[in-house]
Amino acid sequence: MTRNLRADIDLVAEASIAALRAPSILNTQPWRWRLAGDHAELWADRSRQLAGIDPDGRLLLLSCGTALHHASAALHAAGYDADAQRLPDPDRPDLVARVRGGAPRPDAVRAADERLAAAIEQRHTDRRPFGDERPAAAVLDALRAAAQRHRVHLQVVRDEQLTAFAAAVAHAGAVEQADPRFRADLLAWTARPGAEGIAAKHVVAADRRTVAPRDFTVVGGLEPGPGSDRGTVYALLVTDGDEPRDWLAAGEALSDVWLTLTAHGLVASPISEVVEVAAVRHALRGLLGGVGNPAIALRVGVPVTDEAPPASGRRSASATITAG
Ligand SMILES: Cc1cc2nc3c(=O)[nH]c(=O)nc-3n(C[C@H](O)[C@H](O)[C@H](O)COP(=O)(O)O)c2cc1C
Repeated sequence: MTRNLRADIDLVAEASIAALRAPSILNTQPWRWRLAGDHAELWADRSRQLAGIDPDGRLLLLSCGTALHHASAALHAAGYDADAQRLPDPDRPDLVARVRGGAPRPDAVRAADERLAAAIEQRHTDRRPFGDERPAAAVLDALRAAAQRHRVHLQVVRDEQLTAFAAAVAHAGAVEQADPRFRADLLAWTARPGAEGIAAKHVVAADRRTVAPRDFTVVGGLEPGPGSDRGTVYALLVTDGDEPRDWLAAGEALSDVWLTLTAHGLVASPISEVVEVAAVRHALRGLLGGVGNPAIALRVGVPVTDEAPPASGRRSASATITAG
């Protein structure tokens, strides 16, 4: 049965609303949606780009990619493919995507689509220490497959690479704390009023960590809980190219991986310092044997409590979505 225009408009409007919950660098939410009849346009909002941390706009496009994938997951759960044209206009590079509802999804994938979309509301960045137990190998395979859907490779950091990875994260953190441009971004987007940025209640002290969490320049107000963090797995999302198109795909993969692990009862937090500092990003390539481009890292673990960390704020639909 064909949908009418009204149904198409409702579909993309609901998808863009679902995408408000997407994760973004320092919770900058650097996107705008424009509803245009049967499709929606996703635009990068350069006024929210981080001048010190993200001068090339890598993490801005990664963040837009998470929004695009959240919208796609919502379309899937509504029963339709997501028909997306990515970076469709070379003269307008900030037009990230045009998305519309596509063909009906097969019945066989309905339950999986619904589980993934349900994870949009359950997902949070969890910066607390995770449990002793390692995530199951079968779930890690599901995460690899989720990344691969976007032609992005998920590489789990092997035990013998962990010391080098932890040193890379620590070095990147030290470089950022010593650089006034990085610090200015962190200060601007931490503990700011309104429904954006990082609040102290989302930040946790750095105890019990093999890999140091980001220093957000505020005293952490989140109770770390009893986790040892010993079972935590570190993974890198790796792209073949290193262009805006690849950063966007990495963001879609990040969202798909994160929603998938959430649907499996796992928790995660990204580690992007290692790609923010160019020298560390290049050093990480060495860890990968010189093949591929690390787009972002992620720690994944088994939660030690049913209590989710407090939800982070979001800009309103009226501030981010326009019609016509
Ligand atoms: C591209 C990107 C990079 C991020 N980098 C980090 C990071 O280095 N450290 C961290 O603790 N969280 C990081 N985050 C998580 C964001 O801070 C988080 O998504 C945002 O504050 C919204 O919170 P929520 O994920 O709980 O909804 C990153 C998220 C994205 C999408």
